[in-house]
Amino acid sequence: MSKTREHSVGQGPAKRDSFTSSLGMLAATLGSAVGLGNIWKFPSMTGTNGGATFLFVYLACTIAVGLPVMISEIMLGRTVKANAITTLRKLSPRRQPWGLVGVSGVVAAFLILCFYTEVAGWVFAYIIKGISGSVLTTDPEVASAAFGKLISDPIQSLGWQWGVIALVSFIITFGVSKGIEKVTTRLMPILFCLLIIIGIRSLTLPGASEGLEFLFAPDLSKISGTVVLMAMGLAFFKLSIGMGTMMTYGSYFRDNQNIPMTATKVMLADLTVSMLAGIAIFPAVFAYGFDVSAGPSLLFVTIPAVFASMPFGQLFAVIFFLLAAIASTGAMLSLFEVPVAYLCEAKQMSRKGAVLTTALGIAILGAPAALSHSLTADVTVFGKTFFDLFDYLSSNLFMPAGGLCICIFTGWVFGKEKIKTQLSNRHTLSNEGIVKLFTVLVKYVSPILVALVMLNMLKVF
Ligand code: PFF
Repeated sequence: MSKTREHSVGQGPAKRDSFTSSLGMLAATLGSAVGLGNIWKFPSMTGTNGGATFLFVYLACTIAVGLPVMISEIMLGRTVKANAITTLRKLSPRRQPWGLVGVSGVVAAFLILCFYTEVAGWVFAYIIKGISGSVLTTDPEVASAAFGKLISDPIQSLGWQWGVIALVSFIITFGVSKGIEKVTTRLMPILFCLLIIIGIRSLTLPGASEGLEFLFAPDLSKISGTVVLMAMGLAFFKLSIGMGTMMTYGSYFRDNQNIPMTATKVMLADLTVSMLAGIAIFPAVFAYGFDVSAGPSLLFVTIPAVFASMPFGQLFAVIFFLLAAIASTGAMLSLFEVPVAYLCEAKQMSRKGAVLTTALGIAILGAPAALSHSLTADVTVFGKTFFDLFDYLSSNLFMPAGGLCICIFTGWVFGKEKIKTQLSNRHTLSNEGIVKLFTVLVKYVSPILVALVMLNMLKVF
């Protein structure tokens, strides 16, 4: 391999904050993966794309592409112990512009935060509205009108979005161990408990089995190029990969953490949450005869109507939106950390300054997305509102392209020997088989799959 700029690899700045325990690393990483992707995107995309068939493709993408990219990112981040841009720059051979992949990651984090903070804002709003009972109605038309009222009111839209940005900024100023780790370690178990309660409630409804069949019995004839692209985009979005988030978190990992094991646990736990969310939602939707293919409004229109139809529905609705709010908070913390880490380390800003700059950037850039259902509703780019555009660009372009570059970089530039050293924690773990399998996946299988899907999207074949 050619000479790399690695002289300072592994040293990092003197007093760099990091995760303090194995559990903390797992909780924070899982906190990033689990989010509105599980509770909002996964059910609505599964609902509109044929249920189990979509789930099947999504599972395949998660295992064949998602896991290798996640392991790569965490490994690269831990090797350099710096933000994503610096990590890739330091590991790049001279005159190779891999740092640009880190730059694209920061751009992608901003794009996601612009619409994600808005949806999170609606979730927080629905906790309050659930408590007051104002959105709980068994009539989907009335539920739809209530949701429409929220998103088409510019003051409410911006207010909730900025409120969420302020909350996440507040937590993240406390740093990696005292902010992110502390909050996610406490929130993740609560999230699991709440999800199990809702799942049991949904499964015990009469007629629930139809929902389970929809979720688990695939019809492989429904697989198409679009379905695969969407499933892959979701796999990237779900695991927070392809844009430097896991690289940034990896940089806070301790040297003795077993990376393949942690990444696999995160992937499995994240899948479990998606399944639980599906089990919580689909049986209830079928049991009360609602439309399963409602799309993104499933969470805010169909779900409140479903809850309003069941005994103690108000309580369960509030629990449901509370768990969605918890999930979104962990994910937003990790998204914020990408630019914050960069600004602190590369631009020597104080943590507070970096958080403030990021928050202001998102508040300003995110406003057009938040107003996509009111003031900027008529402004479209490539036929999409700002909200849809930011969502589409991040999931279907930036993340897969970033993931492809990360696979190529890991497999072909970082190379086999360093992979072996890093993933075996300097030969202290006996996981040779896993390392070999990972190397083949990251070098050949994952990049070829992502490239095929992207070429198909660009209509090359
Ligand atoms: N994985 C998060 C979710 O499923 O909601 C979303 C996300 C977080 C995407 C962090 C990207 C990211 F960097």
